[in-house]
Amino acid sequence: MSVQETTPTVSTVINGSPDAGPTARVIESRNPTNLEEIVAEVHLGGPETFARACRAAREGQLQWAATPAPVRGEVVANVAHLVRENKNELAAYITREIGKTTTEALGEVQEVIDTCEFFLGEGRRLYGMTVPSEMPNKQLMTFRMPLGVAAIITAGNFPTAVPSWYLVPALLCGNAVVWKPADYAAATAQAMTELFWHAGVPAEALHLVQADGENTFQGLQLALDEGAADKVGFTGSTDVGRRIGALCGAHLQSPCLELGGKNPLVVMDDADLDLAVEGALFSGFGTAGQRCTSLGTVIVHEGVHDEFLKRFVVATEQAPIGDPTEDVLYGPMMDERFVERFENRWLGLIRDHHRVHGSQGVGRITAENARRGFVGEDPERGLFVHPTIVSGIRGDDELANTETFGPIVGVASFRNWDEAVALANRHGYGLSSAIYTENPRTAFRFHERVNSGMVSINNSTSGAEAHLPFGGNGKSGNGSRQSGVWVLDQFTRWQAVNWDYAGQLQRAQMDVAQVEADRDFRL
Ligand code: UN1
Repeated sequence: MSVQETTPTVSTVINGSPDAGPTARVIESRNPTNLEEIVAEVHLGGPETFARACRAAREGQLQWAATPAPVRGEVVANVAHLVRENKNELAAYITREIGKTTTEALGEVQEVIDTCEFFLGEGRRLYGMTVPSEMPNKQLMTFRMPLGVAAIITAGNFPTAVPSWYLVPALLCGNAVVWKPADYAAATAQAMTELFWHAGVPAEALHLVQADGENTFQGLQLALDEGAADKVGFTGSTDVGRRIGALCGAHLQSPCLELGGKNPLVVMDDADLDLAVEGALFSGFGTAGQRCTSLGTVIVHEGVHDEFLKRFVVATEQAPIGDPTEDVLYGPMMDERFVERFENRWLGLIRDHHRVHGSQGVGRITAENARRGFVGEDPERGLFVHPTIVSGIRGDDELANTETFGPIVGVASFRNWDEAVALANRHGYGLSSAIYTENPRTAFRFHERVNSGMVSINNSTSGAEAHLPFGGNGKSGNGSRQSGVWVLDQFTRWQAVNWDYAGQLQRAQMDVAQVEADRDFRL
């Protein structure tokens, strides 16, 4: 792709118009495969921009909530239609802006479509209950009520699918949304939001804010202080999640937090080793290890450790890496900041007792630090890094207990079951986990003992389907779950209504009919 003559500009859009407020900073979103290519010039707003969007959403929400839920479901059906019709184009945005392979980008866009298809029918359900009253001439019922304004802050590793997990149910339930995407995925976010608006989501109900993290945090504080945000959804790091959780807690709000992971993959001695290698390769290095469900540590039974490691190393050495539009395992890292952390922090956790495998080098792929079989012309034009396998991992290693967002996978060996479970849990994250075994009893024991929100049996730690609850425990979140029917509890609040048509006050608990019974009776 050549450098574009006129660089597109993206900025905050409030009520359908580019925000007229001051710009805090202008950055360039670049193609990580070829850093010379500017994808968009991004105008980032300040705290007040974010708060202004929340106020506008507050204004727009009532009318959107007054739109019947089945009609809102029709709008979601239109989003599904437009995303499907623009699938290749939206996937191309993802590949250009964050370097995800075309295959994975298409899969991600499919996840947006799947999410819409799940929720378009929910507009005709969104069930409440009728409940019998303890008194005559009285009815009880429950309603799912929208919360108001949902402020959604997302990472850029799934720049369309993860936002859709928030936007689609939040809107379907009658909330207005302020969406703040990652600043390094700003153009993809603009493209996706366009599809929502063209599908009939009113501009008053969906606002797009372009801002950096710190300004967003301050803007969120402003919005919460003045009561302009009713629900926060955040996908990102555990550290930022803690800050957002504390801020929301001070406002008596419980956010939806989807945070980091150190996802274990246990290989038992009865496992199909080739299958386990395939799973480890996909979840360890797919998306260049930048998924929250990426594999952290493979925990292998000592009886098959050496054989597993051998096969995993060969598969990793042979995997094609490079141009994400080609058939490769992974493309570039998403943005400079991730390369910087990968090189300076995560690779720095390798210790003398470890052994490193998987490629001809470690760190950035360059002419001097080449990767055999690199797919593409010049790796130095982009943000490509070697895949790294680190064996000899012990439970108390920093590398075993730190989320390392990038293509680095640890391998540990275990002797007995308790040791395997301890290694799988001791880092304190609890997002996703996997076990490879042919024994159903072992699989169920793992599900009982592992503290993760998602468990895969003979499947990798990545690749959750769009209609199962997605979320984590411990350092991976606050127990909130996205997707499927479970996310409805994030974007609605139960309202209990009672209607007394007796024409006289009937006091609950006090004016209830008494039943005569002989409770000492025995046959
Ligand atoms: C994420 O990395 O934030 O399960 C989400 C998966 C994808 C979603 C990952 N469907 O890997």
